[in-house]
Amino acid sequence: MKWSKLIAASAVMAGIFAVLPARKAAAQGKAQLSDERFKNIKVLKGIPLDDFMGTMGVMTSSLAFDCSDCHTGAGTDTVDWAADTPRKVTARRMVTMVGEINKNYFRGRQVVTCYSCHHGRDKPATTNSIENVYGPPPTDQDDAFGQAEGQPPAEQILDHYLKALGGEQKVAAIKSWVAKGESVGFGGLGNEAIVTLSAKFPDQRTLKIDYANAPGRGDTTRAYDGKVGWLRTPMNVLGEFELSGGELDGTRLDALMSFPGQIKQVLKNLRVGLPATISDLPAPESQASKAQNVGIGQDKLVDVVQGDGDNGMLVTMYFDHESGLLLRTARYAKSPIGRVLTQVDTTDYRDVNGVKFPFRITFAWFNGRDAIRLNDIKTNVAIDPAVFGKPAPLKSSGAN
Ligand code: HEC
Ligand code: HEC
Repeated sequence: MKWSKLIAASAVMAGIFAVLPARKAAAQGKAQLSDERFKNIKVLKGIPLDDFMGTMGVMTSSLAFDCSDCHTGAGTDTVDWAADTPRKVTARRMVTMVGEINKNYFRGRQVVTCYSCHHGRDKPATTNSIENVYGPPPTDQDDAFGQAEGQPPAEQILDHYLKALGGEQKVAAIKSWVAKGESVGFGGLGNEAIVTLSAKFPDQRTLKIDYANAPGRGDTTRAYDGKVGWLRTPMNVLGEFELSGGELDGTRLDALMSFPGQIKQVLKNLRVGLPATISDLPAPESQASKAQNVGIGQDKLVDVVQGDGDNGMLVTMYFDHESGLLLRTARYAKSPIGRVLTQVDTTDYRDVNGVKFPFRITFAWFNGRDAIRLNDIKTNVAIDPAVFGKPAPLKSSGAN
């Protein structure tokens, strides 16, 4: 192993990641950067648009805020994202502060983030309570971990997974698949939208959500053609754009993991943490899967495997200890102010020509989630290459 690789590996083990990611795709040109697209950018300059939106998610989730807590009229037609509000000005100062703390006290490792202090509050708590001192320990966990003592090698858990899916050979024989279903939305929005998920070996994938019941709304498309990725979301700040930051790495990972035989090659430095228990995300009635008994359920015992993806992305996979199936994939992408977490739950596995596929997918990130219920999957079908390409432009683009 090369020294540089060794150092990178041990850096990840120690939970270290550099403050500003160098982005190949962004440097190559086409994709826009934050200060090229937006009007009033002073501290989060020169970063990919997806990473910029990621930083907004880090701020929102760390302080348990809505966009409208810092932005005038967010969530209405009269939103003015560029206008400065007192909280926005404070947040800017905090971005600079976080950068300086990491630079001056942690040798540039990004260990202090908005969440380090805020923990879901607008003003961080200053004094611990006696209840906490004598109460149960906090449930916060480290993002990154090393191989835990007494745990099996990652290969063993991944092999168990492939076996549970139907066996390595059968899994490897699938070179494309198309799944159809519906979006069960979040809080009513996106309800009954038609979902098509297309994947082609080794690394192409497109998710399309068609809002059939909302004429004029258009569709949500997340496409990756093996090199370039696009995200198009109606009623959203950016409308549609080419991915070039953490979302590009994440979308590529989703594509590669659509063919699970590749996981061992795709993720580096695979390691197994301590077993854990995970539960369904708290969900509104429209998404609650308990009733149909097709979700993760509560306190499910899982084997936890972590690996390193592209550009410092951390990927943690949670496998059902009993069945061996993959129930959750959490990926952490870099941003200048903290990691941007995306979590994909995959449950309700059913047999399709001898290979198990998840028929329930919940895709959750800091600013929202999509829950999908599939009803039909066809394997080894021809897919028009245009499906994975740039989506057609939105008819009427979002605000800004
Ligand atoms: C804690 C405060 C805070 C929250 C919450 C927040 N933002 Fe921001 N936002 C900022 C700051 C600060 C900037 C300016 C960054 C800079 O100057 O580099 C900004 C800038 C922006 C811009 C660029 C505007 C322009 O044209 O200059 C957009 C778009 C934006 N935010 C969208 C969002 C969205 C969408 C959300 C909710 C998901 C959100 N923000 C939540 C603080 C916040
Ligand atoms: C080192 C700890 C620390 C970190 C890290 C930190 N903050 Fe703060 N933040 C504070 C404290 C303390 C206050 C309250 C200050 C006061 O009351 O005068 C505060 C206040 C704020 C407020 C004003 C809240 C209100 O409603 O009055 C915003 C907005 C904010 N922080 C955003 C952020 C963002 C965004 C980040 C990450 C880029 C961040 N903070 C990181 C300590 C921190």
